[in-house]
Amino acid sequence: MIMSPYALSHRSVIVGCGHYLPQNVVTNEELSKTVDTTHEWIVERTGIHQRHFAAHGELTSDMAFDAAKKALKMAGIDGQDLDLIVLATTTPDLTFPSTATKVQAMLGNTKGLAFDVSAVCAGYLVALNVADNFIRLGQAKTALVIGAERLSSLLDMQDRSTCVLFGDGAGATVLKAFDAQETDRGIIGIHMQSDGNYRHILCTDGGVASTGTPGKVFMEGREVFRHAVTKLADSADATLTHYQVDPKDLDWLIPHQANIRIIEGMAKKLHMSMDKVITTVHKHANTSAASIPLALSCALEEGRIKEGDLILHEAIGGGLVWGSALLRF
Ligand SMILES: CC(C)(COP(=O)(O)OP(=O)(O)OC[C@H]1O[C@@H](n2cnc3c(N)ncnc32)[C@H](O)[C@@H]1OP(=O)(O)O)[C@@H](O)C(=O)NCCC(=O)NCCS
Repeated sequence: MIMSPYALSHRSVIVGCGHYLPQNVVTNEELSKTVDTTHEWIVERTGIHQRHFAAHGELTSDMAFDAAKKALKMAGIDGQDLDLIVLATTTPDLTFPSTATKVQAMLGNTKGLAFDVSAVCAGYLVALNVADNFIRLGQAKTALVIGAERLSSLLDMQDRSTCVLFGDGAGATVLKAFDAQETDRGIIGIHMQSDGNYRHILCTDGGVASTGTPGKVFMEGREVFRHAVTKLADSADATLTHYQVDPKDLDWLIPHQANIRIIEGMAKKLHMSMDKVITTVHKHANTSAASIPLALSCALEEGRIKEGDLILHEAIGGGLVWGSALLRF
């Protein structure tokens, strides 16, 4: 469902970005020593060369906090002044309370509302959608949106079909309310959707209420690939059509980073050359909810993104949940 934002008077502008990656880099060669795979196979099928894995005792909240501090610094906003913290994660520190409330306390914030959202690899876009709605409705003036994952906790390191695909990290953005009459920057529209009939093709084999453990990642790779290609293309098309944006006017595609072949397929469908696509999958692998804000923050740090750039995000993850977001940075 696409909601038209134009009747509302506030726009959510991204005024800060930050990211964190654990120090420990694990290459394909290293993984091939413990599981039956090769660097060549992983690169050819996914584009992944390496990933970062969190250290023992390094939690999702620690990574989220670091990314958040950097985003707040760029925004020039004190963590105490935030009205809202939405944290997307599949790997919370604890079952409850939410990791967002822990980050809230780490930031010294007591006045805002903090909560987690669970939408796996589409989590950042869902969190962005929620925060944007709070701002548009006037319920928040400043919001911190974080994607943070310790996916390595959910991997069976003997399962070559999944353990080579994922990594750990965090990315954060700070949104600020601007008068819609005064700027054309900000989130233009977000189009999210889910279909729970496909829960079984990308899931864990456990959970609190079922097995009493978080379980390990299970994926029917080919099926997920097939859905990703069509659903992401349809979503991008619906969003661009709704907001009457020609793909050639996009400055950047910043997609969820799961597989270079999916990303290249999307770029081709949008007739975008790969030099207008931000890719980090080769060095970060799939960091689930963290991947889009991580890629955005890295690209900003490299001086590639500038104020006023028109950006399309898209992501798909377990559920299946998928969608796209259009914004002017
Ligand atoms: C996972 C993925 C890379 C697998 O590539 P694929 O071409 O579909 O490969 P398949 O799963 O069909 O497996 C082909 C063969 O490679 C093998 N294989 C799987 N993982 C392997 C690995 N790491 N190293 C070597 N061989 C591997 C399989 O066992 C299979 O062998 P078989 O033919 O003898 O049974 C691909 O399906 C994919 O990227 N899917 C989408 C993943 C994704 O985006 N997930 C996240 C969404 S949020």
